[in-house]
Amino acid sequence: MLLPESSAMPIETLSVDLPECSYDIKIGPGLLAQSGALISPFLKQQRVFVLTDETVADLHLDALRQGLLARNVQMTALALPAGEQTKGWPELEKAVEWLIEQRVERSDMVIAFGGGVIGDLAGFAAAILRRGVEFIQIPTSLLAQVDSSVGGKTGINSVQGKNLIGAFHQPQLVLADVDVLNTLDPRQFLSGYGEVVKYGMLGDAGFFKWLEKNGPSMAAGDQAKRIHAIRRSCEMKAGIVARDEKEHGERALLNLGHTFGHALEAATGYSDRLLHGEGVAIGCALAFELSQRLGLCAQEDPSRIRAHLTDMGMKKDMADIAGELPDADGLISLMGQDKKVTDGKIAFILARSIGDAFVEKNVDMAVVRAVLTDALAER
Ligand code: GLY
Repeated sequence: MLLPESSAMPIETLSVDLPECSYDIKIGPGLLAQSGALISPFLKQQRVFVLTDETVADLHLDALRQGLLARNVQMTALALPAGEQTKGWPELEKAVEWLIEQRVERSDMVIAFGGGVIGDLAGFAAAILRRGVEFIQIPTSLLAQVDSSVGGKTGINSVQGKNLIGAFHQPQLVLADVDVLNTLDPRQFLSGYGEVVKYGMLGDAGFFKWLEKNGPSMAAGDQAKRIHAIRRSCEMKAGIVARDEKEHGERALLNLGHTFGHALEAATGYSDRLLHGEGVAIGCALAFELSQRLGLCAQEDPSRIRAHLTDMGMKKDMADIAGELPDADGLISLMGQDKKVTDGKIAFILARSIGDAFVEKNVDMAVVRAVLTDALAER
């Protein structure tokens, strides 16, 4: 009998090697069904506490429950509203109080089952509950599988800016089940792709080239290509996090596109006018534009990036964002709220070429203003 395509594919395992706690990232199809077998070695008691959102709960919570029950692991779950608004104090309080009500002990395991919002919030709830409870990430969006579930950044948004409240708290295990990506709407998938293509731009020109060729079929559903892209992204992130866990240097490269992107997200009210990965993709194009104007990278690089984003059916510049935007100074002031500001200076991730990014703390803001002014004029 021929196996269905997904069950014929092996599970890939990568390791994030850290001095205090190394852990595995498993990537493949059918991981929810195997969750009991994969997770039970980490449990001291045969129970887990799952934080999820209502959308993921409707689609996938039963599959997780069945997978856990196959190894007699009992699951209790709290589903929070889906969306970025959840990533704030009120829902964090709800999650932590719920975990306390459930009598979660320090030896228990919390599971973050959802996209980036749930991963960040649940990880932070685990970090602060009883001064730290262990947790496992089961990311359900492409964005969470390639970025936010790996590396231990957890937290919530402040009303004054994104991700301003948080802690480093590494998971014990990350399970990236590629089957769950089939229920993402295409725009959400492509938003996650913004983070995938970022890895090529920041450190692997060969991967960027592979994505130029294979990105469209991967987005259309080719599962082997999805696994390859998620694996390569996680491999790059795991390497960077292992070398610079607390972001004293190299890890900042993962913020390529984020300084511009966060300002655009803030300007659009973190609404569905602009999803996070869309902001990152536009931000990467702007970071290359800035690099080119500063004479650092070739003239063709920003247009090559925009051409690829166009092939993928993604937003590629500010002209693709509906509605009003602030002027260049307004955007620069929003950048000033970013975590990457030190001594009042905004750190930019610039590039010498596609695949060769670096951090620069002394950028001439007149050039940044000119890049933004020109991009806004195209609207
Ligand atoms: N998302 C950027 C980082 O994890 O460092």
